[in-house]
Amino acid sequence: MHITEVSVVNSEQSIGLLNKSVADELAAVHQYMYFHFHLDDLGFAPLANLFKRTAIMEMGHVEALAERILFLKGDVQMAAADPVAAITDPAKMLAKAIEMEQGSARDYNRAAQTCGANADAVSKQLFERLVGDEEGHQDAFDKQLENIRRFGPSYLALQSFGAATAPEAPET
Ligand SMILES: [Fe+2]
Ligand SMILES: [Fe+2]
Repeated sequence: MHITEVSVVNSEQSIGLLNKSVADELAAVHQYMYFHFHLDDLGFAPLANLFKRTAIMEMGHVEALAERILFLKGDVQMAAADPVAAITDPAKMLAKAIEMEQGSARDYNRAAQTCGANADAVSKQLFERLVGDEEGHQDAFDKQLENIRRFGPSYLALQSFGAATAPEAPET
């Protein structure tokens, strides 16, 4: 196999991994905005805003992945990996979001290893950055779920009245 053939094969594998990740990120954008709408409707503004800010960060991930796909001469497949789960209980929303973040971090760790093995260092670095972001999101959701468990369902109402510290989305 010639060097050019090797690089085409490698970039095709990277493009496949990057597009799978675009699909996961789009699913997260849809799911988190769905949670945002319902939490806003329930009057739980701080948690509603955490989901909205996180959805915006996931959209930034879509953009970073798309830029890399186009650089590798692929095209971006704008289809969400999963339909939105109709969850309206705040604790169940957080459990679902934590599961999604853990799944993304696991997939991106594996994708980083594959890209590294294929000598695609830039895609590897992108996936490693995303792992850090997803772990930050998971941590923020973990803290909220922990507070609901510790203080009971009234935690979200108290938080909305400013009686508890508003959660902050992690910095990227
Ligand atoms: Fe993400
Ligand atoms: Fe995330």
